[in-house]
Amino acid sequence: MSARTAASRRTVLRGVALTSVAGLGLTACGRVEDKPAGLTEPVELGAETEVAAGSARLYPDHHVVVSRAEDGTLAAYSTICTHARCPADKLEETRLICPCHGSEFDVTTGRATREPAVAPLDRLSVEVRNGTIVAAPEA
Ligand code: FES
Repeated sequence: MSARTAASRRTVLRGVALTSVAGLGLTACGRVEDKPAGLTEPVELGAETEVAAGSARLYPDHHVVVSRAEDGTLAAYSTICTHARCPADKLEETRLICPCHGSEFDVTTGRATREPAVAPLDRLSVEVRNGTIVAAPEA
């Protein structure tokens, strides 16, 4: 086989592979349909005492992060990254980090603080019922 024939064959095979990936609805970081959708109904997250003033806590099973301001006010956001919908699963104090492309968010405001994400996290409603933090999609 000549060098030119081998190169052409590689080019064709690469094109077939890329076409197959695109046809399956894949992105650079996984299948689009495999990405979590976020909250669709209220969920009980845990005891109110789990989130101290000036801190935040991640609830990865529900893709939710809850922060508490110094005045005791709670805020909740979806942890689904607004760049390409990977679940952001690393929390350092009040900084949420997405593993897919490195976007970062401030979980006290939801604001994107590091690109590629530019849109804020989806805000959730949050309340305490009988000592339990409950988050829900905003109405
Ligand atoms: S999905 Fe790309 S940075 Fe989160």
